[in-house]
Amino acid sequence: MITNQDIAKIVEKYDQKKIAIGTLGSHSSLNIFKGAKEEGFRTVCICKEKDAIMYKKYPLVDELIIVKDFTELLNEQIQEKLRKLNVVLIPHGSFTAYLSTEELTDSLFVPMFGNRQLLKWEANRKSQEDWLRQAGLRLPATFKTPEDIDRLVIAKLPGAKGGRGYFLAISPKAFHKKFKELVQRGLLKEEDLASIHLQEYALGVNVYPSYFSSIVKDDVELLAMDRRYESAVDSIGKIPAAEQLEIEVNPTYTVVGNFPIVLRESLLPEMMRMGDNVHKKAKELAPPGIIGPFCLETVITDDLKIFTFEISARIVAGTNVGIGTSPYAYLKYGENMYMGKRIAMEIKEARTQGKLLDILA
Ligand SMILES: Nc1ncnc2c1ncn2[C@@H]1O[C@H](COP(=O)(O)OP(=O)(O)O)[C@@H](O)[C@H]1O
Ligand SMILES: [Mg+2]
Repeated sequence: MITNQDIAKIVEKYDQKKIAIGTLGSHSSLNIFKGAKEEGFRTVCICKEKDAIMYKKYPLVDELIIVKDFTELLNEQIQEKLRKLNVVLIPHGSFTAYLSTEELTDSLFVPMFGNRQLLKWEANRKSQEDWLRQAGLRLPATFKTPEDIDRLVIAKLPGAKGGRGYFLAISPKAFHKKFKELVQRGLLKEEDLASIHLQEYALGVNVYPSYFSSIVKDDVELLAMDRRYESAVDSIGKIPAAEQLEIEVNPTYTVVGNFPIVLRESLLPEMMRMGDNVHKKAKELAPPGIIGPFCLETVITDDLKIFTFEISARIVAGTNVGIGTSPYAYLKYGENMYMGKRIAMEIKEARTQGKLLDILA
């Protein structure tokens, strides 16, 4: 486990005037780099050859490090290079998608803007649920065994990407029938049964609020809101019910893009309290709590109940809808504020106040 002392030793050797902002070249990198440039930082991108075109077309990167695979971030030479460049890494979805929690907490000796300890709480559904429930959020009910199913549930596999292999069931009988079918079609294995997570299906619309937890200002700011454009679930309604039945379609949730959302104003106070409480609980679980961006994945039902089913304690790609500005960032900061820039601003302020170690892990 990389400790705060390990990070402090690295940061001690940094030329603080020359801090560079670095990240993997995908997900929300353009958002992060644009914000870094606007706040006057140098930028470093660890990127795959095939994606380098992005950084030629949008010239936001000062130093491009080409890798075959994002796991090369763990190579000692690459880490040494990043440290030489005084890099602060901004973690995003590709970090957890390509590297394991252990690799991130034990083997990445480059300062990160984020709380490494929280990764453990985020890593599995059970501890994540404990965190969110203890923060007082409303979560969908969970069921211990298929025999307990008494309403529409979503059956989730651990580690499934984009909801592949997830399915819906309304009763124990329906569950076993679907499970068997999916095993026969080779999409699931018999032994998956034990690890399936059964969660009440919250019927409503998806809303993803993005917050920024500022350690420097000791405040949680609501900065952006989006919904996702998901294949295949957003396309199922395009074909008639008869064909839906014939092709036995199961909703999958591969994110293809995002839309901005402006929430009904009467829901904002609760959204704000939720953000505050999640950070407050995180502070107890792993001080100093969430450092920087986080996002709640919610469903809002027709009686305006907000159900939270997941958290990401880092920047999410949905904040890309706010590059330049978003209504919520505008309300707080006026024009030209967005998650990437907010991150850079925090790092700058922490540096000015001599508090860099408080926001790096
Ligand atoms: N309890 C739920 N009620 C309604 N929809 C849900 C629920 N849980 C997940 N979903 C839908 O399934 C998608 C994928 O679920 P999620 O738990 O976020 O998996 P992943 O780990 O792939 O992000 C979500 O984006 C959401 O649209
Ligand atoms: Mg999710």
